[in-house]
Amino acid sequence: MPDPRPVEIPASLSSGHIPSHVGVVMDGNGRWAQRRGLPRTDGHGAGEVALVDTTYGALALGVRALTVYAFSTENWRRPVDEVRYLMNFNRSLLERRQHELHEVGIRIVFSGRRDWRVPRGVLKRMDEASELTKNNTAMTLNIAFNYGGRAEIVDAVKRLIEDGVAAKHVDDKAIAQRLYHPELPEPDLVVRTSGEYRTSNFLMWEAAYAELVFTDVLWPDFRREDLYEAVAEFQRRERRFGGIEQ
Ligand code: IPE
Ligand code: IPE
Ligand code: MG
Repeated sequence: MPDPRPVEIPASLSSGHIPSHVGVVMDGNGRWAQRRGLPRTDGHGAGEVALVDTTYGALALGVRALTVYAFSTENWRRPVDEVRYLMNFNRSLLERRQHELHEVGIRIVFSGRRDWRVPRGVLKRMDEASELTKNNTAMTLNIAFNYGGRAEIVDAVKRLIEDGVAAKHVDDKAIAQRLYHPELPEPDLVVRTSGEYRTSNFLMWEAAYAELVFTDVLWPDFRREDLYEAVAEFQRRERRFGGIEQ
């Protein structure tokens, strides 16, 4: 089990700006397994330690929110056995890990659609984990499950209409308030593993100005040190938000 105590945080990091919200596209599980002659699903299983270790790393750094992409609205296109494995895996991961995450003060929330395709047993576990940890304040772990950035915007637009918002009142704020977790700060850093240079429908609205860091490390090999490296890269970047350096 990963150690919840921080491994040495580089001094240069802690004196710099720590991102308030980090998003992670946890990619490369299938390739990790295939390189070892294992079934792809073993790669998903091996990603559990990476997730817990990265969560502790973010907590040690003082990150306020960590959003991890666990299952996308497009991942239903995968073979039925792999989808079934991922559903069961995410349910059992919550069973195994919710208590230790609760003990260190992590609030667990979810982003995504609760549609008919997600088994009831999985939804039940998600509700339990959210309920158990709802008053925790050390950090929020937002698990993006059956999540798509476009679906999230579509859902926000539906809510605008349901709320009877007049066209002249539709602005950035009206949409942002209707996203899945409007209380979270916008991600300032998004990390993607496995050497793929795309966002694959992750946090489309929220990450409009996030710094993107790509690493070749496959997700099951990712550890808190890799997160620290991504944050160091973030700290070297100059963020302009459309303005100019003055
Ligand atoms: C990411 O790993 C996990 C999910 C998408 C659920 P992949 O399963 O996409 O691994 P690769 O990209 O095929 O190696
Ligand atoms: C993105 O990875 C989704 C998750 C990590 C859950 P994918 O492997 O599904 O993305 P693509 O297909 O390479 O764009
Ligand atoms: Mg992939």
